[in-house]
Amino acid sequence: MSRVTLSRYLIEQTRSQNTPADLRFLIEVVARACKEISHAVSKGALGGVLGSMGTENVQGEVQKKLDVISNDILLEANEWGGHLAGMASEEMDNAYQIPGKYPKGAYLLVFDPLDGSSNIDVNVSVGTIFSVLRCPSEYLSQNESLNEQAFQQPGTKQVAAGYAIYGPQTMLILTLGNGVMGFTLDRELGSFVLTHDNISVPTSTAEFAINMSNQRHWEAPVKRYVDELLAGKEGPLGKNYNMRWIASMVADVHRILTRGGLFMYPRDDREPGKAGKLRLMYEANPMSFIIEQAGGAATDGVQRILDIQPTSLHQRVPVFLGSKEEVERVTGYHKA
Ligand code: AHG
Ligand code: MN
Ligand code: MN
Repeated sequence: MSRVTLSRYLIEQTRSQNTPADLRFLIEVVARACKEISHAVSKGALGGVLGSMGTENVQGEVQKKLDVISNDILLEANEWGGHLAGMASEEMDNAYQIPGKYPKGAYLLVFDPLDGSSNIDVNVSVGTIFSVLRCPSEYLSQNESLNEQAFQQPGTKQVAAGYAIYGPQTMLILTLGNGVMGFTLDRELGSFVLTHDNISVPTSTAEFAINMSNQRHWEAPVKRYVDELLAGKEGPLGKNYNMRWIASMVADVHRILTRGGLFMYPRDDREPGKAGKLRLMYEANPMSFIIEQAGGAATDGVQRILDIQPTSLHQRVPVFLGSKEEVERVTGYHKA
C-alpha cells in the first residue's frame, strides 16, 4: 500500500468523519510549525539555540532560548490563516490576540511550545504539546479582544490534541477523538508519514514513571502506592516493577503509548499553594485526551482530568496517567 501522509490521513478523516476543513488546515499548520521546531532543536549548538534567555515566564521558570523560539514559530505559523480565534501558551502570560489585519476563525489553540526544556542542553528528547478547542460563540466577535475565559473549557471539549516528539526520530502523535495515530517525519520528503496506526496502551503494566527525589514531599496515598511498587514481588502487588523518568512529559508519555506504563506527577508539599507541577490546559488535558483515546486512563488522583473545569489558563494539576489498571489503583488509594 502507498504511504499515508498526514495530509492524506486528514483528508480521509474529512470524508469519513466529517472533520471540518478548517480543523484540517489547523492541524497541517501546527504540523508544519513542529517541523520547523524540530529543525531548530536538531541544530543545537550549531544554530546557537542552546542555553537560557535570561528571562522568566509567567510560572517563574527560566526561559530557554528554544522555549521562546518554539513559541514564536507556533504563533507566526498560526496567526494569519484565518482558522483561529486566539492562542494561549505556557510561555505567554495572557491569551494571544489574532492581529486585526487577519481574519479570525472558529478555534482556539493552546500549547506547550517546548516541553522538557531542562533536557535541551543535554541532548535528550523534548517535544511540543497542543490542544484545540472551539471558541465559544459569545467570544467570537471580530472587534473585541479575546479574554482568558474563552479558553476555560474542560478537556472533554477538545476537538483535537497531539504532541510532536523531537527524539532520534521526530514524530507527531495526533487524536481527533477517533483513535490515536502516530506519524514519523520523513526528513528527505519533509512530510509526516503514518507509521503507527490506532495506538493502544496495554491495560496492565509493570513500569512506572515518577520523580522519586520528591518522595518525602508526597501525600500519603502516593507514598503508599509507590512503596508497594518498590516492594515488588514480595509486596502486596506481587510483581516486580521497573522505573523510568526522562523529565520530558512528552518522552515519558510517548514511552507509555508505545509499551504501556504509568506516569505520575502528584501534588506535593514543596510549595503548598501549587496543585502539582504540570499545567492543565496545555500538558495534562491534551495528554489525557490522547491516553484515553488509546484506551488508557488519566486522573488527578480523585477525578478524571478531562472533567475538570479550568479556572485559569496556567493552573496546575496532579497527574496520574497511563495503563488503566494502575491509574485505577492509585486513584482508588486517594479515595480510600
Ligand atoms: P516544561 O519544560 O514545559 O516546563 O515541562 C517540564 C515538565 C514535564 O515535561 C516533566 O514531566 C516535568 O516537568 C519534569 O519535572 P521535574 O524536573 O520536577 O522532574
Ligand atoms: Mn511542559
Ligand atoms: Mn514548556
